[in-house]
Amino acid sequence: MGHPSRLLRALLLTACTALLWSGVSAQTAPSVAAGSSGIQSANIFEVKPDANEAPGYAAQTNAERAKVQPGNNAPMWRQVGAGVTGYSSLPKSQAPEAGNLIQPFVQYPGSRLTNAGEAWREVRNNWLIPYGGSLLVIVILALAFVYFAKGPMKTTLPATGRKIERFTPFERAAHWSNAIAFVALAVSGVIIAYGKFFLLPVIGLTLFGWLTYALKNLHNFAGPLFAVSMVVVFVTFLKDNWPEKGDLQWVLQGGGMLGGHAPPTNRFNPGSKAIFWGGVFFLGLIMIASGFVMDKIVPGLIYERGTMQIAHMVHGVSSVLIMAMFLAHAYLGSIGMDGAYEGMRHGYVDEAWAQEHHEYWYDDIKAGKIPAQRSVQAQPSVPSQPVQT
Ligand code: HEM
Repeated sequence: MGHPSRLLRALLLTACTALLWSGVSAQTAPSVAAGSSGIQSANIFEVKPDANEAPGYAAQTNAERAKVQPGNNAPMWRQVGAGVTGYSSLPKSQAPEAGNLIQPFVQYPGSRLTNAGEAWREVRNNWLIPYGGSLLVIVILALAFVYFAKGPMKTTLPATGRKIERFTPFERAAHWSNAIAFVALAVSGVIIAYGKFFLLPVIGLTLFGWLTYALKNLHNFAGPLFAVSMVVVFVTFLKDNWPEKGDLQWVLQGGGMLGGHAPPTNRFNPGSKAIFWGGVFFLGLIMIASGFVMDKIVPGLIYERGTMQIAHMVHGVSSVLIMAMFLAHAYLGSIGMDGAYEGMRHGYVDEAWAQEHHEYWYDDIKAGKIPAQRSVQAQPSVPSQPVQT
């Protein structure tokens, strides 16, 4: 006779083995189990190589496929890859794409017809980065060429020493706050987009990572500041940027670049007006609107991946074009034209400068139609008088 506990262990072992075998046979012989109730499991190790010969195999749903080839989830993954949205109990307002792993197929301008994420990547890497970067380099080289070949535009009339107020302190404050915000955005934007080509090899991954992280945040906050100052600039300079007499003539003569003397203009020439309407107004508005979408500060908008992809592409195109425009503007407003920067820096230009570059404006000032001094100058303080009683 054996020990009673040994007998008990042997009995338990036999019972367990019997249970296990009954489970396995239930899996391997579904026909036997088909009639019984309860959850039925399928043996995913049972490969059925001929299942694909069944009619309609390719069109099977996942449930149908599971019957003929347990564990084969290809129909489900094909749907996921094609961008089909599944069910999610999360609220659409908070998680608009919770049921959707891979975006549906689209063809963005310049991309193949493919998943939206990949289509966006193709537009960015094949178009925005190479062509946008090339445009900026071409503009810089062209301006350098003009500067070294022709030099800055000079004033030929001798200086009179008499000054005209070209920009009031308010106009200058509006302009420079806008220009400073723009430069912050342009520098950070260029490093975010192109820094890995020219900065990363120089400063290394660690520093570049921290720098772009900091610049990305600077970019996000400078954007709204730029937008506000842009509105102020637009309203401030609007009245002198409408088309006026002489503008057409100036355009037809290429602003004097097609030989001869520059045709007379009003306070701003059509070149400045083109920057104002094309850059400040049109591109500026598109760039700001798309930037606001990416900053997620437009109320009521549903922020999906597609929303961000489209906003990014619009932002990329408009910001590269506006940078090209303002490079030319900043060139003419600094080293490209003698006397222009002084006007925006200190507010005043010499009468000779006004007569040579903006003759109609100068004539209007001489005729008394526009005051030569528009801002109120600070009066010297009057010494206090003793009070008479
Ligand atoms: C660092 C870059 C910049 C420099 C050096 C610069 C320089 C100047 C100068 C010197 C003027 C006076 C030109 C004249 O007397 O006719 C001017 C005018 C003006 N600038 Fe800038 N600027 C810069 C950036 C910007 C930016 C980013 C904007 C707007 C987005 C802007 C908008 C204007 C406007 C609206 C005018 C008045 C001319 C007009 O309305 O047509 N500037 N700038």
